[in-house]
Amino acid sequence: MKRILVTGATGQIGSELVPALRDRYGSNHVIAAGHKKTPQQNLVEEGLYTSLDVTDATAIESVVREYRIDTIFHLAALLSAVSEKNPQLAWKVNMGGLFNVLEVSRENNCAVFFPSSIGAFGPDTPRDDTPQDTVQHPNTLYGICKVSGELLCNYYFSRFGVDTRGVRYPGLISYKTLPGGGTTDYAVEIFYHAVQERKYNCFLKQGTYLDMMYMPDAVRAAIELMESDANRLKHRNAFNITAMSFAPEELAASIQRYIPNFSMDYTVDPVRQAIADSWPRHMNDHAAREQWGWQPQYDLEQMTRDMLERLTAKLGQSSGIV
Ligand code: SER
Repeated sequence: MKRILVTGATGQIGSELVPALRDRYGSNHVIAAGHKKTPQQNLVEEGLYTSLDVTDATAIESVVREYRIDTIFHLAALLSAVSEKNPQLAWKVNMGGLFNVLEVSRENNCAVFFPSSIGAFGPDTPRDDTPQDTVQHPNTLYGICKVSGELLCNYYFSRFGVDTRGVRYPGLISYKTLPGGGTTDYAVEIFYHAVQERKYNCFLKQGTYLDMMYMPDAVRAAIELMESDANRLKHRNAFNITAMSFAPEELAASIQRYIPNFSMDYTVDPVRQAIADSWPRHMNDHAAREQWGWQPQYDLEQMTRDMLERLTAKLGQSSGIV
Protein backbone atom coordinates (compact mmCIF):
# COMPACT_ATOMS: atom_id res chain seq x y z
CA MET A 1 0.00 0.00 0.00
CA LYS A 2 1.70 3.14 -1.14
CA ARG A 3 -1.00 5.33 -2.62
CA ILE A 4 -4.38 4.93 -1.06
CA LEU A 5 -7.86 6.16 -1.96
CA VAL A 6 -10.55 6.12 0.73
CA THR A 7 -14.12 6.50 -0.53
CA GLY A 8 -16.80 7.47 1.99
CA ALA A 9 -14.02 9.35 3.81
CA THR A 10 -16.41 11.70 5.62
CA GLY A 11 -18.42 8.83 7.12
CA GLN A 12 -18.18 7.16 10.52
CA ILE A 13 -15.32 4.81 9.61
CA GLY A 14 -13.63 6.98 6.98
CA SER A 15 -13.21 10.00 9.21
CA GLU A 16 -11.05 7.89 11.55
CA LEU A 17 -9.44 5.56 9.03
CA VAL A 18 -8.05 8.43 6.93
CA PRO A 19 -5.98 10.00 9.76
CA ALA A 20 -4.73 6.53 10.77
CA LEU A 21 -3.64 5.78 7.20
CA ARG A 22 -2.02 9.21 6.88
CA ASP A 23 -0.06 8.60 10.09
CA ARG A 24 1.13 5.29 8.77
CA TYR A 25 1.81 5.98 5.10
CA GLY A 26 2.26 9.76 4.97
CA SER A 27 -0.36 12.40 4.26
CA ASN A 28 0.60 12.71 0.59
CA HIS A 29 -0.09 9.03 0.09
CA VAL A 30 -3.75 9.02 1.19
CA ILE A 31 -6.52 10.65 -0.83
CA ALA A 32 -9.72 11.12 1.12
CA ALA A 33 -12.83 11.14 -1.09
CA GLY A 34 -16.25 12.23 0.12
CA HIS A 35 -19.43 13.08 -1.69
CA LYS A 36 -22.48 14.79 -0.23
CA LYS A 37 -21.33 15.78 3.24
CA THR A 38 -19.14 18.81 3.86
CA PRO A 39 -15.76 17.28 4.68
CA GLN A 40 -14.39 17.56 8.19
CA GLN A 41 -11.74 20.29 8.34
CA ASN A 42 -8.90 17.93 9.16
CA LEU A 43 -9.64 15.73 6.13
CA VAL A 44 -9.04 18.71 3.87
CA GLU A 45 -6.29 20.48 5.80
CA GLU A 46 -4.10 17.56 6.78
CA GLY A 47 -3.79 15.88 3.40
CA LEU A 48 -5.33 15.33 -0.01
CA TYR A 49 -9.09 15.54 -0.38
CA THR A 50 -11.34 15.17 -3.42
CA SER A 51 -15.06 15.08 -4.01
CA LEU A 52 -16.10 11.79 -5.61
CA ASP A 53 -19.42 10.16 -6.50
CA VAL A 54 -18.84 6.40 -6.52
CA THR A 55 -21.73 5.84 -8.92
CA ASP A 56 -19.58 7.62 -11.53
CA ALA A 57 -17.00 5.08 -12.75
CA THR A 58 -15.20 7.60 -14.96
CA ALA A 59 -14.68 9.90 -12.00
CA ILE A 60 -13.23 7.05 -9.90
CA GLU A 61 -10.91 6.11 -12.74
CA SER A 62 -9.62 9.62 -13.16
CA VAL A 63 -8.81 9.95 -9.43
CA VAL A 64 -7.09 6.56 -9.47
CA ARG A 65 -5.00 7.55 -12.50
CA GLU A 66 -4.24 11.09 -11.34
CA TYR A 67 -2.93 9.94 -7.96
CA ARG A 68 -1.53 6.58 -9.18
CA ILE A 69 -3.62 4.77 -6.57
CA ASP A 70 -2.72 1.16 -5.72
CA THR A 71 -5.14 0.48 -2.85
CA ILE A 72 -8.78 1.50 -2.37
CA PHE A 73 -10.61 1.37 0.95
CA HIS A 74 -14.12 1.49 -0.44
CA LEU A 75 -16.32 2.69 2.43
CA ALA A 76 -18.99 4.70 0.61
CA ALA A 77 -22.38 3.11 1.28
CA LEU A 78 -25.83 3.72 2.77
CA LEU A 79 -26.42 2.07 6.17
CA SER A 80 -29.19 -0.43 6.96
CA ALA A 81 -32.09 1.75 8.15
CA VAL A 82 -31.52 4.36 5.44
CA SER A 83 -31.32 1.60 2.83
CA GLU A 84 -34.73 0.29 3.92
CA LYS A 85 -36.16 3.77 3.37
CA ASN A 86 -34.68 4.03 -0.13
CA PRO A 87 -33.77 0.57 -1.45
CA GLN A 88 -33.38 1.77 -5.04
CA LEU A 89 -30.78 4.36 -4.08
CA ALA A 90 -29.08 1.85 -1.76
CA TRP A 91 -28.66 -0.63 -4.61
CA LYS A 92 -27.31 2.10 -6.88
CA VAL A 93 -24.77 3.39 -4.36
CA ASN A 94 -23.86 0.20 -2.48
CA MET A 95 -23.75 -2.27 -5.40
CA GLY A 96 -23.14 0.12 -8.27
CA GLY A 97 -20.38 1.88 -6.36
CA LEU A 98 -18.65 -1.39 -5.48
CA PHE A 99 -18.91 -2.66 -9.04
CA ASN A 100 -17.31 0.55 -10.32
CA VAL A 101 -14.52 0.34 -7.76
CA LEU A 102 -13.80 -3.29 -8.65
CA GLU A 103 -13.76 -2.58 -12.38
CA VAL A 104 -11.41 0.38 -11.96
CA SER A 105 -9.24 -1.77 -9.68
CA ARG A 106 -9.14 -4.57 -12.23
CA GLU A 107 -7.98 -2.17 -14.92
CA ASN A 108 -5.52 -0.27 -12.72
CA ASN A 109 -4.19 -3.09 -10.56
CA CYS A 110 -5.48 -1.82 -7.20
CA ALA A 111 -6.08 -3.83 -4.04
CA VAL A 112 -9.55 -3.31 -2.52
CA PHE A 113 -10.80 -3.30 1.08
CA PHE A 114 -14.56 -3.82 1.28
CA PRO A 115 -16.36 -3.55 4.62
CA SER A 116 -19.06 -6.15 4.91
CA SER A 117 -21.19 -6.36 8.04
CA ILE A 118 -23.23 -8.41 10.48
CA GLY A 119 -25.97 -7.24 8.10
CA ALA A 120 -24.75 -9.83 5.58
CA PHE A 121 -26.51 -12.43 7.76
CA GLY A 122 -30.22 -13.08 7.99
CA PRO A 123 -32.95 -14.82 9.98
CA ASP A 124 -31.80 -18.34 8.95
CA THR A 125 -28.26 -17.74 10.23
CA PRO A 126 -27.24 -19.31 13.57
CA ARG A 127 -27.32 -16.27 15.84
CA ASP A 128 -24.88 -17.46 18.48
CA ASP A 129 -21.29 -18.37 17.71
CA THR A 130 -22.17 -17.51 14.09
CA PRO A 131 -19.70 -19.47 11.95
CA GLN A 132 -17.43 -17.87 9.38
CA ASP A 133 -19.04 -19.95 6.64
CA THR A 134 -22.75 -20.44 7.12
CA VAL A 135 -26.16 -19.74 5.62
CA GLN A 136 -26.59 -15.97 5.09
CA HIS A 137 -29.91 -15.07 3.34
CA PRO A 138 -30.22 -11.46 4.60
CA ASN A 139 -33.68 -9.94 4.23
CA THR A 140 -32.69 -6.27 4.11
CA LEU A 141 -31.51 -4.41 1.03
CA TYR A 142 -28.39 -3.41 2.94
CA GLY A 143 -27.63 -7.05 3.73
CA ILE A 144 -28.37 -8.18 0.19
CA CYS A 145 -25.83 -5.62 -1.05
CA LYS A 146 -23.30 -6.81 1.55
CA VAL A 147 -23.60 -10.50 0.73
CA SER A 148 -23.57 -9.75 -3.01
CA GLY A 149 -20.58 -7.51 -2.42
CA GLU A 150 -18.71 -10.29 -0.61
CA LEU A 151 -19.39 -12.65 -3.51
CA LEU A 152 -18.49 -10.06 -6.13
CA CYS A 153 -15.21 -9.27 -4.36
CA ASN A 154 -14.37 -12.99 -4.20
CA TYR A 155 -15.20 -13.25 -7.89
CA TYR A 156 -12.87 -10.38 -8.81
CA PHE A 157 -10.12 -12.07 -6.80
CA SER A 158 -10.50 -15.56 -8.29
CA ARG A 159 -11.39 -14.48 -11.83
CA PHE A 160 -9.21 -11.41 -12.31
CA GLY A 161 -6.66 -11.59 -9.49
CA VAL A 162 -7.80 -8.34 -7.86
CA ASP A 163 -6.47 -8.40 -4.26
CA THR A 164 -9.84 -7.99 -2.53
CA ARG A 165 -10.12 -8.36 1.26
CA GLY A 166 -12.88 -7.58 3.72
CA VAL A 167 -14.32 -7.96 7.19
CA ARG A 168 -17.83 -8.31 8.51
CA TYR A 169 -17.95 -5.38 10.91
CA PRO A 170 -20.27 -5.47 13.89
CA GLY A 171 -21.94 -2.28 15.14
CA LEU A 172 -19.23 0.37 15.40
CA ILE A 173 -19.02 2.78 18.32
CA SER A 174 -17.12 6.04 17.99
CA TYR A 175 -17.11 9.62 19.25
CA LYS A 176 -15.76 11.53 16.22
CA THR A 177 -18.42 11.10 13.52
CA LEU A 178 -21.97 9.87 13.96
CA PRO A 179 -23.12 6.87 11.93
CA GLY A 180 -25.62 7.79 9.23
CA GLY A 181 -28.77 5.76 9.82
CA GLY A 182 -27.91 2.24 10.95
CA THR A 183 -29.56 -0.24 13.27
CA THR A 184 -26.69 -0.31 15.74
CA ASP A 185 -26.64 3.51 16.05
CA TYR A 186 -28.28 3.35 19.47
CA ALA A 187 -24.94 2.25 20.90
CA VAL A 188 -23.43 5.57 19.76
CA GLU A 189 -26.41 7.87 20.44
CA ILE A 190 -26.70 6.59 24.01
CA PHE A 191 -23.31 8.14 24.88
CA TYR A 192 -24.24 11.59 23.54
CA HIS A 193 -27.50 11.52 25.53
CA ALA A 194 -25.77 10.16 28.64
CA VAL A 195 -23.22 12.99 28.60
CA GLN A 196 -25.65 15.77 27.66
CA GLU A 197 -28.98 14.79 29.25
CA ARG A 198 -28.31 11.84 31.57
CA LYS A 199 -31.14 9.92 29.89
CA TYR A 200 -31.77 8.03 26.65
CA ASN A 201 -34.78 6.57 24.87
CA CYS A 202 -33.60 3.40 23.13
CA PHE A 203 -35.16 2.24 19.83
CA LEU A 204 -34.19 -1.43 20.33
CA LYS A 205 -35.76 -3.49 23.08
CA GLN A 206 -34.14 -5.04 26.12
CA GLY A 207 -32.38 -8.31 25.41
CA THR A 208 -31.38 -7.38 21.84
CA TYR A 209 -27.84 -8.71 21.81
CA LEU A 210 -25.63 -7.59 18.91
CA ASP A 211 -21.91 -7.73 18.18
CA MET A 212 -20.15 -4.40 18.66
CA MET A 213 -16.67 -2.90 18.35
CA TYR A 214 -14.92 0.33 19.32
CA MET A 215 -13.63 2.32 16.35
CA PRO A 216 -9.88 2.09 17.13
CA ASP A 217 -10.18 -1.70 16.81
CA ALA A 218 -12.20 -1.37 13.59
CA VAL A 219 -9.62 0.93 11.99
CA ARG A 220 -6.75 -1.31 13.05
CA ALA A 221 -8.56 -4.36 11.64
CA ALA A 222 -8.84 -2.81 8.19
CA ILE A 223 -5.17 -1.85 8.11
CA GLU A 224 -3.93 -5.14 9.53
CA LEU A 225 -5.97 -7.21 7.11
CA MET A 226 -4.69 -5.23 4.11
CA GLU A 227 -1.11 -5.59 5.36
CA SER A 228 -1.39 -9.29 6.17
CA ASP A 229 0.42 -12.04 4.31
CA ALA A 230 -1.79 -13.10 1.39
CA ASN A 231 -0.47 -16.65 1.62
CA ARG A 232 -2.12 -17.11 5.01
CA LEU A 233 -5.57 -16.00 3.84
CA LYS A 234 -7.88 -18.91 3.17
CA HIS A 235 -10.82 -16.53 3.19
CA ARG A 236 -10.97 -13.12 1.57
CA ASN A 237 -14.48 -11.67 1.74
CA ALA A 238 -15.34 -11.36 4.39
CA PHE A 239 -13.94 -12.24 7.82
CA ASN A 240 -16.20 -12.24 10.88
CA ILE A 241 -14.68 -9.92 13.48
CA THR A 242 -16.10 -8.88 16.81
CA ALA A 243 -14.96 -7.35 20.08
CA MET A 244 -17.99 -7.56 22.39
CA SER A 245 -21.64 -8.52 22.42
CA PHE A 246 -24.19 -6.78 24.61
CA ALA A 247 -27.86 -5.86 24.92
CA PRO A 248 -28.98 -2.22 25.42
CA GLU A 249 -29.56 -2.66 29.18
CA GLU A 250 -26.01 -3.94 29.62
CA LEU A 251 -24.58 -0.91 27.84
CA ALA A 252 -26.77 1.33 30.03
CA ALA A 253 -25.48 -0.44 33.16
CA SER A 254 -21.91 0.03 31.98
CA ILE A 255 -22.54 3.78 31.54
CA GLN A 256 -24.25 3.98 34.96
CA ARG A 257 -21.04 2.84 36.61
CA TYR A 258 -19.59 6.21 35.56
CA ILE A 259 -22.78 8.30 35.48
CA PRO A 260 -24.95 6.89 38.29
CA ASN A 261 -27.94 9.14 37.54
CA PHE A 262 -28.15 8.04 33.88
CA SER A 263 -31.45 6.38 33.02
CA MET A 264 -32.82 4.69 29.92
CA ASP A 265 -36.28 3.86 28.64
CA TYR A 266 -37.47 2.25 25.45
CA THR A 267 -39.61 3.21 22.45
CA VAL A 268 -39.05 0.37 20.03
CA ASP A 269 -38.76 1.18 16.32
CA PRO A 270 -40.29 -1.89 14.63
CA VAL A 271 -38.22 -1.52 11.44
CA ARG A 272 -34.87 -1.40 13.20
CA GLN A 273 -35.93 -4.02 15.76
CA ALA A 274 -36.80 -6.44 12.93
CA ILE A 275 -33.42 -5.77 11.33
CA ALA A 276 -31.59 -6.35 14.62
CA ASP A 277 -33.55 -9.56 15.23
CA SER A 278 -32.29 -10.93 11.91
CA TRP A 279 -28.61 -10.33 12.78
CA PRO A 280 -26.14 -12.44 14.80
CA ARG A 281 -25.95 -12.02 18.56
CA HIS A 282 -22.34 -13.10 18.67
CA MET A 283 -20.14 -14.07 15.74
CA ASN A 284 -17.31 -16.56 15.83
CA ASP A 285 -14.22 -14.69 14.59
CA HIS A 286 -11.78 -17.56 14.83
CA ALA A 287 -10.87 -17.50 11.11
CA ALA A 288 -9.71 -13.87 11.37
CA ARG A 289 -7.71 -14.62 14.52
CA GLU A 290 -6.06 -17.60 12.88
CA GLN A 291 -5.41 -16.26 9.38
CA TRP A 292 -4.22 -12.71 10.10
CA GLY A 293 -3.93 -12.45 13.87
CA TRP A 294 -7.10 -10.45 14.59
CA GLN A 295 -7.31 -9.48 18.26
CA PRO A 296 -9.65 -6.82 19.69
CA GLN A 297 -8.27 -4.48 22.34
CA TYR A 298 -11.40 -2.85 23.75
CA ASP A 299 -14.09 -4.68 25.72
CA LEU A 300 -17.35 -3.12 26.96
CA GLU A 301 -15.79 -1.64 30.08
CA GLN A 302 -12.76 -0.10 28.32
CA MET A 303 -14.85 1.22 25.44
CA THR A 304 -17.42 2.81 27.78
CA ARG A 305 -14.79 4.61 29.81
CA ASP A 306 -12.93 5.93 26.76
CA MET A 307 -16.16 7.00 24.99
CA LEU A 308 -17.38 8.91 28.05
CA GLU A 309 -14.07 10.66 28.63
CA ARG A 310 -13.59 11.68 25.01
CA LEU A 311 -17.16 12.68 24.37
CA THR A 312 -17.26 14.73 27.54
CA ALA A 313 -14.14 16.56 26.39
CA LYS A 314 -15.58 17.03 22.89
CA LEU A 315 -18.98 18.27 24.03
CA GLY A 316 -17.50 20.43 26.75
CA GLN A 317 -19.77 19.09 29.48
CA SER A 318 -18.80 18.84 33.11
CA SER A 319 -18.06 15.19 33.30
CA GLY A 320 -20.29 13.76 36.04
CA ILE A 321 -18.09 10.71 35.63
CA VAL A 322 -17.26 9.05 38.91
N1 SER B 1 -23.86 -0.72 11.74
C1 SER B 1 -24.50 -1.08 10.51
C2 SER B 1 -25.93 -0.71 10.53
O1 SER B 1 -26.50 -0.72 11.58
C3 SER B 1 -24.40 -2.54 10.25
O2 SER B 1 -23.24 -2.82 9.59
O3 SER B 1 -26.47 -0.45 9.50
